[in-house]
Amino acid sequence: MRSYYRLQSKIYDATRWTFLFGRNRILKMLPFPDNAQIHILEIGCGTGYNLAQLAKIFPKASLTGMDVSGDMIKLAQKNTKAYADRVTLIEKPYMPDETAFTGKVDVILFSYSLTMINPQWQDLILKAKADLKPGGAIAVVDFHNSRFNWFKRHMGNNHVRMDSHLLPLLLSEFDSLVEEVKLAYGGVWEYVIYVGRKK
Ligand SMILES: C[S@@+](CC[C@H](N)C(=O)[O-])C[C@H]1O[C@@H](n2cnc3c(N)ncnc32)[C@H](O)[C@@H]1O
Repeated sequence: MRSYYRLQSKIYDATRWTFLFGRNRILKMLPFPDNAQIHILEIGCGTGYNLAQLAKIFPKASLTGMDVSGDMIKLAQKNTKAYADRVTLIEKPYMPDETAFTGKVDVILFSYSLTMINPQWQDLILKAKADLKPGGAIAVVDFHNSRFNWFKRHMGNNHVRMDSHLLPLLLSEFDSLVEEVKLAYGGVWEYVIYVGRKK
């Protein structure tokens, strides 16, 4: 993952808006008022695109971004500089044995990260549940599936698993607030937007 993003980080923000759909939309679906003093954690924060948007939407929130790639974290530092007093960036993988956040976070966002975290995606959804405060929310936007095997193979070569696999676990572990499966490019693939509260 680190070596993949050493190169991809250089073209990331210039290219990803063309296919990482639903990111702006999910940030506006979080079940907290704009002036809430909440703690939002993004796992796999990449270049900090979402963190910068979240800082604008929630001006009183404190934000933490965690990413395994140092190259992405460097870009996130640059892209969130204006909000440095509220943004903490951590260069390390999110792991089930991490105890720093247990029961302390209001929102955990996974934006196009879970389908790349294989085979540990299940453990990390459960870990996120443990890290949320009671009433806290998980927000997931990611690839869902494709009816084209060539496309799934192509995504697999880019470390992305696309098997409709995230949604069933999210539905069973959280109380659903938003559950949408949307078509991209007229049906080349589907992406999922999910927001749920800790039960
Ligand atoms: C496709 S990018 C998404 C970046 C950002 N969330 C966005 O929406 O633009 C996936 C990111 O997840 C990170 N990542 C992958 N596995 C991770 C893990 N176990 N813990 C933390 N970050 C991880 C990668 O380094 C990469 O920056």
